[in-house]
Amino acid sequence: MKVYITRRIPPEGMEVLSAAGVCEVSQWDSDEPVPRTELLKGVQGAHGLLCLLSDKVDAEVLDAAGPNLKVISTLSVGFDHLALDEIKKRGIRVGYTPDVLTDATAELTVALLLATARRLPEGVEEVKSGGWSSWKPLWLCGYGLSGSTVGVIGLGRIGMAIAQRLMPFGVKRLLYSGRSAKPHAAEVNGEFVPLDTLVFESDFIVVSCSLTPETQGLCNKAFFSKMKKTAVFVNTSRGAVVNQEDLYEALAGGQIAAAGLDVTTPEPLPTNHPLLTLKNCVILPHIGSATYSTRGVMSALAARNLLGGLQDSEITSELVF
Ligand code: NDP
Ligand code: DGY
Repeated sequence: MKVYITRRIPPEGMEVLSAAGVCEVSQWDSDEPVPRTELLKGVQGAHGLLCLLSDKVDAEVLDAAGPNLKVISTLSVGFDHLALDEIKKRGIRVGYTPDVLTDATAELTVALLLATARRLPEGVEEVKSGGWSSWKPLWLCGYGLSGSTVGVIGLGRIGMAIAQRLMPFGVKRLLYSGRSAKPHAAEVNGEFVPLDTLVFESDFIVVSCSLTPETQGLCNKAFFSKMKKTAVFVNTSRGAVVNQEDLYEALAGGQIAAAGLDVTTPEPLPTNHPLLTLKNCVILPHIGSATYSTRGVMSALAARNLLGGLQDSEITSELVF
């Protein structure tokens, strides 16, 4: 069976595939994304496709692959890059990588929140540039978690892991919003509230929901205008949940205190993007799951998912849609 892999991936996944010895692998053997024309060529006749979140898998790709394609395995928990309606129509199964990256992503989210709220990149820059003249009572002050209200938009696997990590900092109230109340929220004393309540009352807002038509552009002008002027906004879900022009206005105009983003639209964010001119905006290059061990485990899981689909057997982490 033929398999197409759209990028160089951690060796753990390649080892799983070669040990199984059931497929002939071709690959875009680079750390950079496969050009669309190469993807359309490479996928032809494939029985399995192992892709990344940066590969848009739509009707064109599925048509290029043709009727052999049985399984798509994405090296991500997010699946907003997959045209699920088209995939379903063709009876193709999908594997993804939930759980194994939850801890790494939650950890990074906490790091980003603290870096943003306590102005770490600004501080580091001042030390390097000689801006540090003495200890000054009013200099580089930020916001602390102790006694604060934190709002988590999307208390799923990662949202919950973020909440668990933030509570020991002395958070007073943990609010969350989503489509339904979660029984596991009790563990962090989470209060299920309407989105507006969360936005009005939170000192820190963390976005950890999936990108869907409903959440696309959720954080817009109206959203930011309801936030406290002293509140910090953090997004580690997907860039498209945020209207970046509205975020820029909110940050530049002092409507909110600061923002930390691990995800943007587009990715990479052009180096001349207005958000990059703001001191109160900390932007990371989508590194939520980027620990060596997590990426290795994701790679092995994606490979096992692919094999399950190829062999018409169980897919360890199968997306049900
Ligand atoms: P889960 O499916 O466990 O959680 C997603 C959450 O989104 C659910 O709790 C769901 O709530 C919520 N949600 C869905 N619709 C809405 C809505 N309209 N309003 C508010 N919440 C909503 O997924 P994970 O926690 O594993 O992953 C979440 C996302 O994080 C991924 O989809 C991905 O985009 C992103 N991610 C980013 C990473 C990074 O590197 N920055 C790394 C890994 C993931 P409900 O159940 O009530 O619908
Ligand atoms: C995902 O898995 O969806 C992340 O964005 C990258 O790990």
